[in-house]
Amino acid sequence: MTHQNKVCIISGATDGIGKEAAVNLAEMGFTLGLVGRNPKKIDSTLSEIQTKTDNENIKFFQADLSIISEVQRLADEIQSTYDKINVLLNNAGAYFSDFGKTVEGFENTFALNHLSYFQLTDLLLDSIKSTPNSRIVNVASDAHFGTNLNFDKLQGFDGYRGWPAYCKSKLCNVMFTYELARRLKGCQTTANCLHPGFVNTNFGNNNKTSVRMSLSAAKAVGAINVKKGALTSIYLASSDEVEGISGKYFSKCKSKQSSKQSNVIKDQQRLWSVSEEFLS
Ligand SMILES: NC(=O)c1ccc[n+]([C@@H]2O[C@H](COP(=O)([O-])OP(=O)(O)OC[C@H]3O[C@@H](n4cnc5c(N)ncnc54)[C@H](OP(=O)(O)O)[C@@H]3O)[C@@H](O)[C@H]2O)c1
Repeated sequence: MTHQNKVCIISGATDGIGKEAAVNLAEMGFTLGLVGRNPKKIDSTLSEIQTKTDNENIKFFQADLSIISEVQRLADEIQSTYDKINVLLNNAGAYFSDFGKTVEGFENTFALNHLSYFQLTDLLLDSIKSTPNSRIVNVASDAHFGTNLNFDKLQGFDGYRGWPAYCKSKLCNVMFTYELARRLKGCQTTANCLHPGFVNTNFGNNNKTSVRMSLSAAKAVGAINVKKGALTSIYLASSDEVEGISGKYFSKCKSKQSSKQSNVIKDQQRLWSVSEEFLS
């Protein structure tokens, strides 16, 4: 139990990679602040993790992370619950095959997959920075390879296509991580991102039947199980091997090169300022 008294916040902890990471980090003794959106799933996941791990220091927070006002409320609740944050694992994400907007007018993919990581991190940053050796871990994807950001069409309002929108949101995760790591230089806080692998989770099951069937077929042939899929998230959240390492992209618990555009500093900086403008 080397991680007792450490607080870890995990978004998207009611399913898939986030839930598996929560179980493992609970077993290591972390105090967990988990984020879910569906009250019934929150209740069942909480009892499942407590039964499996005997860890009683687990609390769920409820928020739809694609809504800016909910992320703001969530951050307030987290900060009034914990006096420190050792790890923030931004994990909640989804693929939307069809165009849709949040009630606040943002495109769904961009709002959930990028803006929520950016906003939750920003709002919790003072607490994270004041916790020694703290870590921010962003679940990105190899889907970011082979796409570029067009800053004039960041949200795909014209001619939306689901997969390119997803790939761009995951490129945003990588670029956000690198800019964040640069801004954190000189602090004890690190920021890294990762590709979990192609993982057999409920990912994509929020879409129409034809999309779900194609994804299921692909998962049956090529996906790894969720235990393997959560390993790099768990590693970056907890391993001594990555203490002090920051601004890297990981896959299979090893750092690797990310795409060309993800490494362009002026684009990382532009994404940061555009994101700030969206949230202002
Ligand atoms: N699976 C893969 O092959 C794969 C590959 C590369 C990267 N990733 C990334 O891995 C991360 C986790 O995906 P997964 O495969 O574990 O998917 P998953 O099984 O669908 O789990 C996604 C989690 O995010 C939550 N979530 C979705 N929309 C939300 C919202 N609006 N507000 C709050 N929470 C929300 C879900 O809540 P509910 O339980 O209520 O649905 C669930 O807990 C994502 O960032 C994804 O992009 C996955």
